[in-house]
Amino acid sequence: MQFYRSTLLRVGRGSAAALTAVTLLVFVGCSVRSPGKFETSFMQSAKRRLTIGGRSDVNPLSADEENIHAGQRNFESYCMVCHGLDGQNTGVPFADKMSPPVPQLNSPSVQAYTDGQLHWIIRNGIFPSGMPASKGVFRDDEIWQMVTYIRHLPPKGSLGEPVVYGGEGLPQKPQDKKGK
Ligand code: HEC
Repeated sequence: MQFYRSTLLRVGRGSAAALTAVTLLVFVGCSVRSPGKFETSFMQSAKRRLTIGGRSDVNPLSADEENIHAGQRNFESYCMVCHGLDGQNTGVPFADKMSPPVPQLNSPSVQAYTDGQLHWIIRNGIFPSGMPASKGVFRDDEIWQMVTYIRHLPPKGSLGEPVVYGGEGLPQKPQDKKGK
């Protein structure tokens, strides 16, 4: 309380009011059972600012066909089980039931991350959600290629549903096999 009072004295009236408002909102937010829109976006922006690193890391790869397709191939072999072939959960039966649910990777909230943050998320995963860490599974350049793919996702449903869930979407599209 002593600290609170002296802080109030120092920060002045306007910011003290703002401080109280924020404190109130946080308490109100916490007492709500199912997270409302505000709390969700508040938590998301807090998560984005506080826990996700790599904000200013720059993607060293160019967004050319080769890198997009290489990213897509790895995405389709590993991330597909939760994110679908198209990064938009197509055909993934439990995507909405996970907590937190698997997001559409082309959604504004995911696309708002910088390339460096996406790279950090894929490398480290998001604890304690179901999003696993990829370090040790993929090389750094392979992770950057997946970031590039996430920036160039195809229309929802255009790649079909994954074979593992009884769909007909191929783990690899024939044209991706050429080249390397
Ligand atoms: C076992 C299921 C699973 C696998 C496999 C998986 N993810 Fe995720 N992913 C999730 C879940 C669940 C979330 C939501 C996490 C959250 O919001 O805290 C998520 C979130 C994300 C996000 C957005 C993070 C955010 O804050 O909105 C990105 C980007 C992502 N995954 C990329 C990938 C990539 C690339 C791969 C493959 C290398 C992958 N994921 C593999 C389950 C998975």
